[in-house]
Amino acid sequence: MPDFFDRPLQRENTCSVKFDARKAVFGREDVVPLWVADMDFPAPEAVTQALAERARHPVYGYTLFPESLYGSIIDWFKSHHDWTIERDWLLMAPGVVPSLHAAALAFAGEGEGVIIQPPVYPPFFSSIQKTGRLVIENPLEQVNGRYQMNLGHLEACAARDDARVLLLCSPHNPVGRVWSESELRAVLSIARQHNLMVLSDEIHCDLIYPDKPAHHVLARLAGQDDALVTAVAPSKTFNMPGLGLSALVVANRSHRKALKEVFDAMHMSQCNPFSIAGFEAGYRHGGPWLEQLMAYLQGNRDYVIDYVRQHLPGIAVTEPEGTYLLWLDCRSLGMDDSGLKHFFVHQAGIGLNPGNTFGEPGSGFMRMNIGCPRRTLETALEQIRQAMSTRTD
Ligand SMILES: Cc1ncc(COP(=O)(O)O)c(C=O)c1O
Repeated sequence: MPDFFDRPLQRENTCSVKFDARKAVFGREDVVPLWVADMDFPAPEAVTQALAERARHPVYGYTLFPESLYGSIIDWFKSHHDWTIERDWLLMAPGVVPSLHAAALAFAGEGEGVIIQPPVYPPFFSSIQKTGRLVIENPLEQVNGRYQMNLGHLEACAARDDARVLLLCSPHNPVGRVWSESELRAVLSIARQHNLMVLSDEIHCDLIYPDKPAHHVLARLAGQDDALVTAVAPSKTFNMPGLGLSALVVANRSHRKALKEVFDAMHMSQCNPFSIAGFEAGYRHGGPWLEQLMAYLQGNRDYVIDYVRQHLPGIAVTEPEGTYLLWLDCRSLGMDDSGLKHFFVHQAGIGLNPGNTFGEPGSGFMRMNIGCPRRTLETALEQIRQAMSTRTD
């Protein structure tokens, strides 16, 4: 199986954002693409087969969500997260980002506040701004290089008269934290006390390193009365985010109705024959592939961290507990954000996500996607080392 992940895969000219948008985004099409969060690995064979099988039937008509799809979600979360989901709690959605927008619309009024914890995945900001809600920032804090929540400040944010919703990123993109049970219990208690709706985005919940503590599904720790929506999807897990489908798990009937109304208002519940085929095949048959993937990613993670510590002075990195994203602290390189971007793109030839796109606390950082064959990382790191050794500024 390691060979499977080592095999180079040509992704150019497949309409891949990561590969084919390089010229538009970085100004050059030859940067080593370690940015957008998808992986350069083939999806599990069962997913490809399910898609091919569906394609073989030559009518791609209007499609419904089959009961077996709901069953695959229920079975996956029972067996992998010990979480019992009832069938009625499930609402299909066209993606997790649309679900962030829907939560802002459904649970906060115009101009009312939605709390987020930057540095965080950019759509956490834009989903609030684009729906006319107010961003309330509860920045994460770094203690000995490790990020944690500032719970005192979260409490103060939640206590504001205009605070309605918390968008929780769990595990956290980009810092790679898998929140501990005590942190999550503290979040629930603050939310309960201040009548805050929590949307827990758990899209990365299956991407946990084997040498790190397990992910806790927030809903497993919550009570039936907690105002909580969980967003899940197999898209990151099995590398098929282009298929565009996700699920919301909402135990409370009126909360479910509120979300459904938002989607219905835009006629967005339309289902796609390919996404349902891939989604169900991943959850039903992708388990062994995922186990191998995480072992391979752990090797990538350790390789990059060792290399950075040995050869890239001025860059600091802490081990993520989950996700295939590394959060590089480049502040000691002494460059501002545009200098950093220029250095990585034009001197090193690497395409990373600039940290300041994750909010102001990300300034001075870069996000590196390690979901690729190790050889690609070897090339990229060597290019960064070379660029550092010939730095002229
Ligand atoms: C935390 C988080 N939520 C959501 C998404 C995207 O979700 P979707 O493609 O289902 O809209 C990503 C993708 O990187 C992500 O990191």
